[in-house]
Amino acid sequence: MRIPKIRDYVIKNLKYIMKPRSIAIIGAAREPGKIGNQVVKNLIDGGFNGKIYPINPKADQILGLKAYPTVKAVPDDVDLAIIVVPARVVKSVIQDCVEKKVKGIVVITSGFSEVGNRELEDEIVSMCRKYKIPLIGPNVVGVLNATQKVNASFGPKLPYKGKIGFVSQSGALVIALIGWTWNQRVGMSTIVSIGNKADVDFSELIVYFAEEDPDTNAVALYIEGLDAGPEFVEACKRASKKIPIVALKAGISERGSLAAMSHTGSMAGSARIYRAVFKQAGVILAENLEDLYDRSLALSLQPPARKDLIMVITNGGGAGVISTDAAEKYGIPLQDTPRDLVPKMKQYMPPFGSAKNPVDLTGMARPEDYYGAVVDALKHPEVGGVVVLYCHTAITNPMDLAKKMYEASKVAENENKPLVVCFIGGEEVDRASIWLKENGVPTYPSPMRAMSAMGALREYGRLLEKL
Ligand code: ACO
Repeated sequence: MRIPKIRDYVIKNLKYIMKPRSIAIIGAAREPGKIGNQVVKNLIDGGFNGKIYPINPKADQILGLKAYPTVKAVPDDVDLAIIVVPARVVKSVIQDCVEKKVKGIVVITSGFSEVGNRELEDEIVSMCRKYKIPLIGPNVVGVLNATQKVNASFGPKLPYKGKIGFVSQSGALVIALIGWTWNQRVGMSTIVSIGNKADVDFSELIVYFAEEDPDTNAVALYIEGLDAGPEFVEACKRASKKIPIVALKAGISERGSLAAMSHTGSMAGSARIYRAVFKQAGVILAENLEDLYDRSLALSLQPPARKDLIMVITNGGGAGVISTDAAEKYGIPLQDTPRDLVPKMKQYMPPFGSAKNPVDLTGMARPEDYYGAVVDALKHPEVGGVVVLYCHTAITNPMDLAKKMYEASKVAENENKPLVVCFIGGEEVDRASIWLKENGVPTYPSPMRAMSAMGALREYGRLLEKL
C-alpha cells in the first residue's frame, strides 16, 4: 500500500528492525535447511548478541534455544519479529505481534501482491499501520546489519562490514552478491531487502539512514519501481544534505518492466520519467550493479569533490587516454594542470614525462614519485580531487605503492578532498588493491570504473553546492 506520507514513527522505529535487541522468529522450523530454521541459525552464526526467541507451536527447542508456542508467550519485550510462516497464517501471527507490542516486523513470506493476493497484503499492512508498527516486506530475504552482527535473513552470511546502507527490491540479488562484497571488500553497514514494500518503502529507509544511523555514510538503492514518487523526491532531497544516494533503476526495457511487475508487483515506468525523478531528487545514477557498488563505495569512504579540476596521475599513457575519455562521460572533463603546479609535477618524472593532465610519470615512476605528485596535487587550492592510475611494471612492488597511496590518503583526508585509485594488473596488484580498500581507499581495476567513482564524488559535491 502506498505510503500516505513520510511517517515520523517509522523513521524513529526502524532502529528496532535494523539494530534490534531481541528478535522472535515466527515459524522457526525444526528441520535444518528450511528457511525458518536457517534464519535462527544465521542469527546465531552471525554473532548476534541480543536475545533470540524461536516461535514454533510444535517445538520445545530450536538449535539449542528455548522455543515458544506464540510470540505472546515470550516473557520479555520483543523488538523485532521475523515472520516465516506460510502466507495463510501471516495475518494471525501479525495479530499476535500487535498484542505483544513488538516494535518492528519483517515478513519473509511470499504469496502476496506479487501473485495477485493484494487483499491479504493490504489487510496486514492496515493492521501494522493502525498500531504504528513498521513492516518490511512481504516477500523478502530479510535484514542484515554487519555493524551490529544481525543476520536476520536467509542470506549466506553477513556482508563485508563498511559504510554503505543498501536497500534492494530484489532479495535474491543482494544475497547472491554478499560473497562478492567480501571478495571485493565493498563494505556495507546494512542490507535491507524490501520486496513488495507493502508498508515501509525506499523513502523512509533513506531518511532513516541519513538521520538515524551514524554507521552509514552512503545509501545504495536497487529499484524496480516506485509507487510514491513525490515522497521519494522529498525523502532524497531531505537526506542528500547529509548523505549521498546512488540508485540503479532496473526494468527499463518493455520486457524488463513486465518482469519487475511479476517479481515484486511493481510498476516499472519509463527510463525517461525515472531519470527526471532522480535528477529532481538529487539521486546519483548507476549504470549497472557493478557501477552501483563502485560509486557507493567511493561515496561511503571519501568526501565529495568540491571543485571541477580533477587531476589524474598515471605511469601509463594509455590508461591516461582512457581516463580522459571517461572523465567526459562522467561529467568531470579534464582541465589543464594549473600553471604553478606544472614545475612541481616535473620534479617527479624524467624529462620525457608529461606534466599535462593526465600527468604521466612514465613507466619509471617509483612509489615516492607517485606520493610526491599526488600530495602536491591534493594540496593545490584549485584541485578538487585526484585519481591515481597504476599499470603494473616489474620495477614497482604494488604493495609498496599501495602503502604510499595510503599515506597520501591521509593527506587527502586533511585537505578534505577525495582520492581514488586504479591498479591495473594481475594477482599481486589485486592483493594491493584489496589492502587499500581494507584501509579505506576506494580502488578499482580499470580507469573507467575509477573515473565513474570520481564522477559520482563530483556530482555529490555539485549537489551540495546547490542545497
Ligand atoms: N506460529 C509459529 N510457527 C508456525 C505457525 C504459527 N502460527 N504455524 C506454522 N508454524 C511453523 C510450522 O510448524 C513450521 O515448522 P516445522 O517445520 O517445525 O513444523 C514452520 O512454521 C514453517 O511452516 P511450513 O508450513 O513448514 O512452511 P515452509 O517452511 O515450507 O514455508 C515460507 C514457509 C518459507 C515462509 C514459505 O511460505 C515462503 O514464503 N517461501 C518463500 C520465501 C521467499 O522466497 N521470500 C522472498 C525472498 S526474496 C527472493 O526473491 C528470493
